[in-house]
Amino acid sequence: MSQAVPLVVPDEELILVLDFGGQTAQLIARRVREQHVFCQLVRHNLSAARIRELNPKGLILSGSPASVYGEGSPQPDPEIFQLGIPILGICYGMQVSCADQGSEVKPGHSREFGRTACHVQEPSVLFDGVPSDITVWMSHGDQVQNLSEHFISLAATETCPFAAVRHDSKPLFGLQFHPEVTHTEFGGKLLANFVKHICGCRGTWQIGSFIEREVAAIRERVGQNRVICGLSGGVDSSVVAALLYRAIGTQLSCIFVDNGMLRKGESDAVRERFSRHFKTDLHVVDARDRFLSELKGVTEPQRKRKIIGRVFIEVFRSEAVSIKDAKFLAQGTLYPDVIESGGAPDGPAVAIKHHHNVGGLPEELGFELIEPLRDLFKDEVRQMGLQLGLPDELIWRHPFPGPGLGVRCLGEIREDRLSTLREADAIVIDELKKAGLYRAIQQAFAVLLPVQSVGVMGDDRTYQDVIAVRAVTTDDFMTADWFHMPYDVMERISTRITNGVRGVNRVVYDVSSKPPSTIEWE
Ligand code: XMP
Repeated sequence: MSQAVPLVVPDEELILVLDFGGQTAQLIARRVREQHVFCQLVRHNLSAARIRELNPKGLILSGSPASVYGEGSPQPDPEIFQLGIPILGICYGMQVSCADQGSEVKPGHSREFGRTACHVQEPSVLFDGVPSDITVWMSHGDQVQNLSEHFISLAATETCPFAAVRHDSKPLFGLQFHPEVTHTEFGGKLLANFVKHICGCRGTWQIGSFIEREVAAIRERVGQNRVICGLSGGVDSSVVAALLYRAIGTQLSCIFVDNGMLRKGESDAVRERFSRHFKTDLHVVDARDRFLSELKGVTEPQRKRKIIGRVFIEVFRSEAVSIKDAKFLAQGTLYPDVIESGGAPDGPAVAIKHHHNVGGLPEELGFELIEPLRDLFKDEVRQMGLQLGLPDELIWRHPFPGPGLGVRCLGEIREDRLSTLREADAIVIDELKKAGLYRAIQQAFAVLLPVQSVGVMGDDRTYQDVIAVRAVTTDDFMTADWFHMPYDVMERISTRITNGVRGVNRVVYDVSSKPPSTIEWE
């Protein structure tokens, strides 16, 4: 199981987000880090004594799906309001803060969801530089109804008279709306005002300090033991490997499984990059035949995925057990993979959704898990990778799913079909890069369809494969739009594929969003 790692008391300025279970709690932390102030989530009921020990410059109380007066609703240690540390309560966080200080919270007359006009009526440091009329993002049923006399209302919406408040003598502020979401105008400014002007942070933190901290924490935890890191060729696992390499050097062993469903040139690229950046043990397992023979004749998408997942675990496991003294397994789990409740001593109540390929391995093999990226978002991981000296081309690579071309080769997975797909895919990526569009798109690829269509070549009728091209833009991969690809780029892609990839006589473009489609076709 993931080892519970207590927070290291950092030397740098720290803001803690008390996580009451709101969906955007981690986003608050990321917005604060954007102000160059280190910020981390902790559990909502962390004791005031422990908070004093961690010595944060400020506390932010997050939102929550709960109701302040509901049975078993999450409550902070009431002593935190006596610490003298500046506090910003957001949504539920504002309601618990106001309730603690004698205000009353009740269900509002009407629930407010989404974009709402907000009028700022009272000058305050929190609203410095923010216009008096802004659009804010609301998402609440309850609201503060009777504000205690110790609070001053700073802003209101049509149905919420206390959209922003401050205490008259304590450094305590509340926002009923969510400054952390991009839909709130000047949300970043509000958070910046809180951390810089109210908490007095200078904003000197850089992603480099995070690297130093993680490196120190990894060294301490690993000691003289060996760590195994599965490399996939993608950004996350490469950043984890680079971080571990910096921390423990040759105590790191990496395993790269070639499952035969990689992109054109990927296997060589991984080896080449590895030997350039790391002078440590790399195990390349050529399991192409094994995967293909297990997948023979299988066309049902879920069965394919299951087989690929199972074989991966078997192959990885047999390689991992051959590595002596390995005690830890490192994974590139990112915050968006972290869901639900679990437990670390200070950390928020979270556990990992093991959708990664190596899911299940740590438990079976008795490895302890190292997940140095679990507090971070993808763009922060990219920054970290750049700082660790990884090449641009790897940092900005589109995500590639664990089952690889297996989920893009519809119908039976065979070497000849994979080869067709690989060639077509390489053309798609090459043309997007040449057109300067690769970075404007979050994911693009070719899909080989399990149908054939009639065509004509010279005087002959052909009956050949169809390639679908998919390109999407997305913020979080949960929803996505199809990319409005310029016609000339489409034309070049289509011409090159039909002229250059044997056995393909037709190219189609996928114009479906997610939902209702998914990004991958299987
Ligand atoms: P969908 O197809 O669900 O994809 O819209 C969303 C994102 O997840 C990636 N994806 C996977 N990644 N293992 C992975 O590591 C998988 O089994 C898997 N399936 C989908 C997909 O490429 C997209 O970025």
